[in-house]
Amino acid sequence: MKTYKIAIIGCGGFCGGQYLPDVPKIPNAKIVAFCDILPDRAKSYAEKAGGVEYYFSIDELLEKCDFDVLMNATSIPAHHEINMKALAAGKHLFTQKPAGLTVEEVTAQIELAAKMGLKANAAPVHAMRHSNRKARQLIADGVIGKPTTARVQVAHGGPEYFQYRENHPGWFYEPGSGALYDMGVHGLHYITDLLGSAREVGCMAATSIPERMIRTGTYDGEMMKTDKLPDNYIITLNFGDGVIGEVYTGFCQRATRMPTMEIYGTEGTISFVSDPGEARPHLEVYFDKPGSGIRGWTRPMDLQERETFFCDSFCLKDLLDAIDNDTQPVLSLERQRHLVDIMCTIPKCIETGRILPLHTSF
Ligand SMILES: NC(=O)c1ccc[n+]([C@@H]2O[C@H](COP(=O)([O-])OP(=O)(O)OC[C@H]3O[C@@H](n4cnc5c(N)ncnc54)[C@H](O)[C@@H]3O)[C@@H](O)[C@H]2O)c1
Repeated sequence: MKTYKIAIIGCGGFCGGQYLPDVPKIPNAKIVAFCDILPDRAKSYAEKAGGVEYYFSIDELLEKCDFDVLMNATSIPAHHEINMKALAAGKHLFTQKPAGLTVEEVTAQIELAAKMGLKANAAPVHAMRHSNRKARQLIADGVIGKPTTARVQVAHGGPEYFQYRENHPGWFYEPGSGALYDMGVHGLHYITDLLGSAREVGCMAATSIPERMIRTGTYDGEMMKTDKLPDNYIITLNFGDGVIGEVYTGFCQRATRMPTMEIYGTEGTISFVSDPGEARPHLEVYFDKPGSGIRGWTRPMDLQERETFFCDSFCLKDLLDAIDNDTQPVLSLERQRHLVDIMCTIPKCIETGRILPLHTSF
C-alpha cells in the first residue's frame, strides 16, 4: 500500500480539532507539512505533529515542499484560489466545503483535476457515515416503500457560540461565507445523499440575530455585528417524481431534540436519532407490512454493525481510496457542485420570492 504525503493548509479550529489528531490514524497518510498565513499557527501545528515542515503561503508550500495531497482547511473565501493552484501544481486535493463559491468555480476545479489526471473531493463527510450508507441501502431495498418526503435540520448557535476558536469568528458572517455556505451545505448534503439531485429550490430566510456576543475562544465576551447575511433558513426542495424535502439550517439554534433527518415513505419512516450523549445519530425505522403482521419501530443497526471509529478525516480516506483504485470519490466534486448550485440559487429565491430550477446533478 502506498503511503501518501499530506500537506495541510489552514491551521484553524477545525484542523486543530480534527485533522491534527485524526489524519495520523489513517494508515496510508503521513502529514509532511502545515501551512497558514499566520506564521505562529503554521509553526505550532507543525510542532504538534512532531516537527514536520511549515510554510506561510500556498505558493511557498507548492514551491518548496514534496507532497502528494493537499488538504485545504482554510476559511471559505480562500478555497477556490488555493484549490486551483494545488491542482495546477499536480497535487491531489481534498477541500473543505464549499470547494468554490459558484458553479463555475467548482466546474473549473473538476475540469482541471481531469486534465491533470488528479483526484479531488470535498467535505462534508456524511455520505460516508454508516447511518447514511445504511439508510441508502434500506431505501434501495424498498423497506419504507417509495420515498415521499425528507426533513433535515443541521444548525447550531453560531461559530462564535458553538465552536472553540483562537481566530476571530467574524469572517463566518461576511459575504463570501455565511450560515448557508458553512451550515446549509451539511443539510443539503444529507438530503441529496438520500434522495439524489434536486430539481427545484425555494427558500425563506431571515437575519434573526444581527448582533452577537462571542461566547468561546480567544475573543470570548466581545460583541460583533452579524447583520450582513441571513443566519436562519428554511429551504424547500423538489426532487421530482412526487418527492419533496425541507432543510432547516443556520446559526440560530442553541440546542435541539429533533432528529437530524427523517425520510417518510409510502410504507414507513427512517429517523436519524441521537440519544443524549451520543455524538452520532443512529437509525430507527418504522415499517408497515400488512401481509406480515408487522407494524412498528425497530433499530436496524446493532452495536457490532456500527463503526467503532469514524471521523471527519475519513474525507481523506475517501480520496486516497479513489487514487489507489482509480475510482470516483464518494465525496466527489460533482456532488459538491450540485450543493453549490443549490446554495447559489437560494439568494435568488429569497430575492424574487420564487421557486427556481436547478441545473446540475451528480
Ligand atoms: N466539516 C465540518 O463539519 C466543519 C466544521 C467547522 C469548520 N469547517 C470548515 O473548515 C474551514 C476552516 O474553518 P475553521 O473553523 O477552522 O476556521 P478558522 O478561522 O478557525 O481557521 C481558518 C484558518 O485558515 C487560515 N487561512 C485563511 N486564508 C488562508 C490562506 N489564503 N492561506 C493559508 N491559510 C489561510 C487562517 O489564518 C486560519 O488559521 C472552513 O471552510 C469551515 O467552513 C468545517
